[in-house]
Amino acid sequence: MGKFYVTTPIYYVNDAPHIGHAYTTILADVLSRYHRAAGDEVFFLTGLDEHGQKVKQAAEKRGLSPQAHADDLAPRFLDLWKKLDIRYDDFIRTTEGRHKKAVQAVLQKVYEAGDIYAGEYGGWYSVAEERFITDAEYESGQFRDVKKLKEKNYFFKMSKYHGRLVEYIKANPALIQPESRRNEIMGFLNQPLGDLCISRPKSRMDWGIEIPFDKDYVTYVWFDALINYISVPGYASDDTKFKKWWPADVHLIGKDILTTHCVYWTTMLFSLGLSFPKTIFAHGWWLMGETKMSKSLGNVVNPLDLIKTHGIDAVRYYLMREMVLGQDANFTPESFIKRFNSDLANDFGNLLNRVSGLIARDHGGKVPGPGPLTPAEEELKRCAQALNSTVISLVGRMKVHEAIEAVIELVRQVNKYLEAQAPWKLAKTDMPAANRVLYTAGECLRIASIMLEPVMPHKAKMVLDILGAVNTEPVWGQLKPGTTLKSHPPLFPRIEVE
Ligand code: MSP
Repeated sequence: MGKFYVTTPIYYVNDAPHIGHAYTTILADVLSRYHRAAGDEVFFLTGLDEHGQKVKQAAEKRGLSPQAHADDLAPRFLDLWKKLDIRYDDFIRTTEGRHKKAVQAVLQKVYEAGDIYAGEYGGWYSVAEERFITDAEYESGQFRDVKKLKEKNYFFKMSKYHGRLVEYIKANPALIQPESRRNEIMGFLNQPLGDLCISRPKSRMDWGIEIPFDKDYVTYVWFDALINYISVPGYASDDTKFKKWWPADVHLIGKDILTTHCVYWTTMLFSLGLSFPKTIFAHGWWLMGETKMSKSLGNVVNPLDLIKTHGIDAVRYYLMREMVLGQDANFTPESFIKRFNSDLANDFGNLLNRVSGLIARDHGGKVPGPGPLTPAEEELKRCAQALNSTVISLVGRMKVHEAIEAVIELVRQVNKYLEAQAPWKLAKTDMPAANRVLYTAGECLRIASIMLEPVMPHKAKMVLDILGAVNTEPVWGQLKPGTTLKSHPPLFPRIEVE
């Protein structure tokens, strides 16, 4: 038992939330729930990135002030998190006073340490990415909305920490995951590392946190946003809280914001003398066909539409099971239906139907007593007992899709066992055997449901309620013989396609 501090990126309020935002937030929620269930004390932080040029531009387009624009969009994120049953512990908006204070404290400290200097800077700036890009990056043609800028600005001495960062990453392979992303960063760090421009003159861009030592400047949005990971747990405001939670256990990010987290953020932490997060984990993208889902491409799936038609739990399940953590995944309506019908309707839903249907018909609606087990049941018991530690270990290694698969694999095994044992026949010829089989199937279903609860909180709870087993533990034997099962509609009715 320990503590688990997990973060999501804070999302730009330039548009309504989409599946990319929903995915990372659900992932953080699922990890949090598994850790809580395992007895860890959890701090799950998410929020909104409200400063910078992108947000300012989005506000201008709507004829609103940036703050009014952010105030209008924030509830859309909060509403979606509520609908998706996201249990975050804190939600930060970077325009809040508590965050601004911490950013200014960081700037002052880094400045006094001699790691910030004023300089003249000219170069290519990508408005879409909100950062200066190198000539090589410019020439790659991969950056949108690029312009040439030259101005006085403040710089963070990122280059000073180049060597230390490389050494740290080499010595701590768990820091950047998966391995392919660590290699990507090591490749990036093979090149000379420049300093980071961390200010914007108000005359050009005033939507940001004022630099404490020069009121003509605001803070560069990334230098502001990254600090949320320490401002919320109490940096420069609540030492006890900060000591308790920092360093974070996992920063969850998408692969497109790898450099900002693995290079900018880490060097900022060096300068502040703070320890590093244990892991920065970059997941892949949800693609539509071969292309990334993105607002500018107009191919974004709205998570709310999916929830309306298929329910929260099915959407959470699909997103968590379908994406191999770290790789890209294809979102298609076909794959959604396939996954739904096979895992949820055929395997999980069907097991419940069989158990509750047969117990109602042949056993007076009450959970039968198991009696002595035979090797077939002992084998299932062994698998069900092992499930909890298997799942905890897989989740700890960020293999959420494999953890889910391990649970569904047990469910499939139990369905096969039922077919082989045919308790509907045994009920006519050998009642003690029928009792034993249905108890075993019901007990496995109970344990599987507990193990799926972090992913599908509602449906899993529903099954446990039907079994009279809410708040039980994933250890063998807690399904109580004699319990009257509740009647229920099908858990996941098959999606029929013409
Ligand atoms: N505001 C910054 C993060 C600052 S964190 C200190 C930002 N915001 S964002 O709203 O543009 O993106 C947030 C996250 O959404 C990124 O991790 C990005 O990878 C993720 N996604 C955006 N589109 C996505 C998909 N199509 N699929 C999966 N995730 C993607 O960047």
